[in-house]
Amino acid sequence: MESGRKAYEARKCGTCHMVAGKGNIRFPLDGVGGRLSLADLRRWLTDTAEMEGALPRLPAVRMSEWMATNRRINARDRDALVAYLASLK
Ligand code: HEC
Repeated sequence: MESGRKAYEARKCGTCHMVAGKGNIRFPLDGVGGRLSLADLRRWLTDTAEMEGALPRLPAVRMSEWMATNRRINARDRDALVAYLASLK
């Protein structure tokens, strides 16, 4: 979980998301670990465009576009990020 928090900071997820009052207030991730399954948390990092497409309304800011230019999220970072996100209850 600690490595996930570090990956979250290193990848600058906070430019769009807020956790515990830090980051961008527009898209808070607090409680996301209680709302989404592990599989869906992972899907947000692997099939981002599909997850966006399943939202009631397509957000004006596209995480999928950002992910496309941020390919260095490797499998290890992804696992760590999923564990971190799951801990946000
Ligand atoms: C360019 C902006 C942007 C960046 C950077 C970004 N995201 Fe997102 N992300 C979004 C948007 C927009 C949504 C859709 C939010 C919504 O409608 O609730 C989203 C959704 C999510 C969701 C699902 C949230 C929910 O409540 O269902 C997760 C989990 C997530 N992002 C994790 C991350 C992680 C981890 C990173 C860093 C690796 C990241 N995001 C980087 C914009 C971004």
